[in-house]
Amino acid sequence: MKILFVGDVFGSAGRRIVREHLSHVRQSHQIDLTIINGENAAGGFGITPSLAEEMFDWGADVITTGNHVWDKRELIEYMKSVPADSHERPRRVLRPANLQHGLPGYGVYEGSLPDGQRYAVINLMGKVFMNGTNDPFNKANQILESIQKSSNAKVIFLDFHAEATSEKVAMGWHLDGRVTAVVGTHTHIPTADERVLPGGTAYQTDVGMSGPYDSVIGVEKDLVLNRFLTGMSGKFEAAIENPKMCAVVVSCDPNTGKAYKIQRLMLGE
Ligand SMILES: [Fe+2]
Repeated sequence: MKILFVGDVFGSAGRRIVREHLSHVRQSHQIDLTIINGENAAGGFGITPSLAEEMFDWGADVITTGNHVWDKRELIEYMKSVPADSHERPRRVLRPANLQHGLPGYGVYEGSLPDGQRYAVINLMGKVFMNGTNDPFNKANQILESIQKSSNAKVIFLDFHAEATSEKVAMGWHLDGRVTAVVGTHTHIPTADERVLPGGTAYQTDVGMSGPYDSVIGVEKDLVLNRFLTGMSGKFEAAIENPKMCAVVVSCDPNTGKAYKIQRLMLGE
């Protein structure tokens, strides 16, 4: 079984480059399950229901998010429009599972492929240098227990949206042998440490942004430079130049959920 995970789609340039590459990558790699982090799709800040629908039209099965999940308030109603046991599109847009209790939406989706193969996607957010999150490590334990009791899916994919490399590496070891893949998002910079950990968990500290690389992590570079040079705050705008799609392809045994390969991709125009 092969899983494609696309890193943080940033603004119109990110959407354009992912739209350009997604179908041929899915075909050439014979992808079974497609997951996209879409939290910066709307001009760098959040995702709207119509952009989520667009990504599902491209072939996404599940969309993950992170700290920008609430930037576009209309997403809240979209998430709330379906019940917890639904498999409709709004249920397949996740927010981090370890936010404050009682917030809208869900951090885990358990689904199945057309051939009946079960899988689960988890979205967690880091606690180091980030606000509003609860301990992701114990939350991951709880989620795995609950997946065992419900769908008992063996193929389990985690998007760990976090700032600190140490926290992400620690999560990889924490879940090694218990999930199929732990990949990081949020920093918008791909790391070159993709590997399969000894227990059979595919790991990469950060998949990298799918967006404009002639920028400062997606934002128009002059605006960010000006802030560094003067200390004056100003409005940030999404850049558009030099878009690349960053992604990973994880290959695993569908019966055990163990990964045996992870491949890093970075595709330009
Ligand atoms: Fe983020």
